[in-house]
Amino acid sequence: MDWDQRFSIDDYLFGKEPAQALLKLEKYLVPKGETLVIADGEGRNSVYLASKGFKVTASDYSKVASRKARALADKKKVEVNYRVEDFFDIIWSEKQYDNVVGICFQFVPQEKINEVLLGLKAATKKGGTLLVHGYTPKQINFGTGGPKDVSLMYTKEKFTGLFNENDITLIEEYQASLSEGVGHNGQSAMIDFVAKI
Ligand SMILES: C[S@@+](CC[C@H](N)C(=O)[O-])C[C@H]1O[C@@H](n2cnc3c(N)ncnc32)[C@H](O)[C@@H]1O
Repeated sequence: MDWDQRFSIDDYLFGKEPAQALLKLEKYLVPKGETLVIADGEGRNSVYLASKGFKVTASDYSKVASRKARALADKKKVEVNYRVEDFFDIIWSEKQYDNVVGICFQFVPQEKINEVLLGLKAATKKGGTLLVHGYTPKQINFGTGGPKDVSLMYTKEKFTGLFNENDITLIEEYQASLSEGVGHNGQSAMIDFVAKI
């Protein structure tokens, strides 16, 4: 997927408003905590969290997306530390955050997903929150966003196999209608996962 090319449109591919799931789940985040937003794209989620007082670092490898994210942050007069980097180069244990937020980072091959989820856990402070939102395999039937490869979707089992049951605050598969730019638009099959680390 050439993300720079996908983001090279005037509009914001996934809109300028935060993901619906983030609005629903932000109450589980450590309030105003130091927060890492991974695969942040054009900044809709990082800018929103910064506007709510979180100290946000956002990471994505698309230069085009990062430029648009910075423009959105400027427009909303918030500060976000934007990093342009490949997700697979991040050493997750290097720094810990109060919150780690991953919205629709559906590009991790099956053989790497466990390592990545454990990496995100390692990047979250003890007592901090890990929040992941994405599509489930049923999304293939809707075709209203996300990859066409079912192995990239998330299932409850991907999480429950790796996290202690007592640490899981919420894990839910559900269907809802999304209206998040042209990129996420229509009835969708999704999963939310929140854990206290
Ligand atoms: C579906 S978009 C989601 C963007 C954002 N989370 C949102 O909800 O608006 C997936 C994002 O993953 C980023 N991405 C894909 N592969 C990546 C990689 N290897 N390293 C860093 N970012 C990557 C893309 O640039 C894109 O911004």
